[in-house]
Amino acid sequence: MGVENKVGLDDLLKDVQTVAVICNQWGDTGKGKFSDYFASQWADVTARGTGGNNAGHTVVVKGKEKIFHLIPAGISNDSNGQFTILGNGMVIDLPVLSHELDELDSEGITYNNLLISKDASVIMPYHVNRDKARHQSQKGGGIGSTGRGIGPSYTDKVARRGIIIEDLFDGDRLSRKIEKVREVYPEQAINADEVIDSLMPFADRIKPFVKDTVSEMHRFIREGKKVLLEGAQGLLLSIEHGTYPYVTSSDCSLNGTASGAGLSAKMIDLPLGIVKFPFMTRVGAGPFPTELGGRASENYCAEDGHTKADELKHYGIPHQTVGGKIRYDGNDPKIIEMINSEDEFIQGVGVRLTAGEYGATTGRPRRTGWTDGVVTRYAVGINGPLLVLTKPDSLAGAKEFRLAYGYKSGDQMVDTFSKSEGFLRSVTPQYQIYEGYGDINGIRDYDKLPPSLKKAIGNFESFTGGRVAVISVGADREETIVR
Ligand code: IMP
Repeated sequence: MGVENKVGLDDLLKDVQTVAVICNQWGDTGKGKFSDYFASQWADVTARGTGGNNAGHTVVVKGKEKIFHLIPAGISNDSNGQFTILGNGMVIDLPVLSHELDELDSEGITYNNLLISKDASVIMPYHVNRDKARHQSQKGGGIGSTGRGIGPSYTDKVARRGIIIEDLFDGDRLSRKIEKVREVYPEQAINADEVIDSLMPFADRIKPFVKDTVSEMHRFIREGKKVLLEGAQGLLLSIEHGTYPYVTSSDCSLNGTASGAGLSAKMIDLPLGIVKFPFMTRVGAGPFPTELGGRASENYCAEDGHTKADELKHYGIPHQTVGGKIRYDGNDPKIIEMINSEDEFIQGVGVRLTAGEYGATTGRPRRTGWTDGVVTRYAVGINGPLLVLTKPDSLAGAKEFRLAYGYKSGDQMVDTFSKSEGFLRSVTPQYQIYEGYGDINGIRDYDKLPPSLKKAIGNFESFTGGRVAVISVGADREETIVR
């Protein structure tokens, strides 16, 4: 009677050697909270396998918030002997990596056990230039990349002309490879010597950390070390499984993440698929069937200038800027009114404001919509059934919420995902409506969640075939329900 459920994240980790934290949507699902937890409380090794500085996660170091784009959260435990790996599947921007090392230096955080894959691809300056010029904009059907050179770097990798980390330490080879690639970037008049000169100080700096990380990973596994794989982006942004062509250029599924760190997905004992619930988000262009406000929202979010500050001003929400950061109350009555608006566009802006959905890497407003069961069912098929629901607390105060359990496509009802743009743009999601709920931050026992939320979770599990193992009810580590 009245006994709180004492099950915690630790209980999930019994007999587990390998954990992966993978997003099952379009990124930004709050992986960071779980990666941080496993990295700081459990792992001996933390590794990333895909992507580059298109990702971003906030790491609290010595009470200060730092946004890292490349280095996994586990780095704060370096002095305890924890290893941190930038894996073979990654694309690495050397100045950005060097900047992150500077940040660590300035906070007195060591990185003696950092391992950088000799096989990872280098993001060259000409990749960044090309990406910014051709892929960053969403105008004219552009995908709205983060402009970090991710796509061009992976393009060179696949075309077998990419520069990999170990090339940096062989001047002749590096020079030959850059000479060969020049013709691919005619708009940039690449001067190989200048490029090499600009990169050498960074290359020298990282040299002590460059290793055959695949062999190291295999050794760690043999030694019984506990390994955390930190996913980047999300399944629907995967080059293989995402909403192509509106995707990133790596396979950020469980399979791709494991492969990019030198492992097989079969070796992952606890693959956790993160699902924002009961709303979800997308940044950049591409179809999003359950988007609140539909195309109007997509177009609006693609335009420049709709920053958090602008939206707060436009909708008359009281706010202040403290130390360069905008502060406002996500539960301001005006925002609650917006999330209950009859106008879906306004409702979408309200969800963005109440949940603080603005990009960590780019500051862009994220498109918002209802969590899509069809998408999740697809994700369960690829990343496995274990689900972690995040941010349901953000929707406190909404009178009702919806979950999609099917699409109407022409005259037909469809409950299977297909990533084709034409299909996703033409379907009408079929929703089940649930009664809203109030504050749930303080709840630690699944049984004490509001009945409508429990009912929604039960329906969601039945429809998707997933099993909800964890529900996050706030940003703090303690604000977690483990079933
Ligand atoms: P790229 O990875 O910079 O090439 O961007 C390709 C697409 O993926 C764009 O729509 C980006 O907005 C999206 N994207 C890339 N990284 C992230 C991320 O970490 N979170 C959410 N979206 C991302």
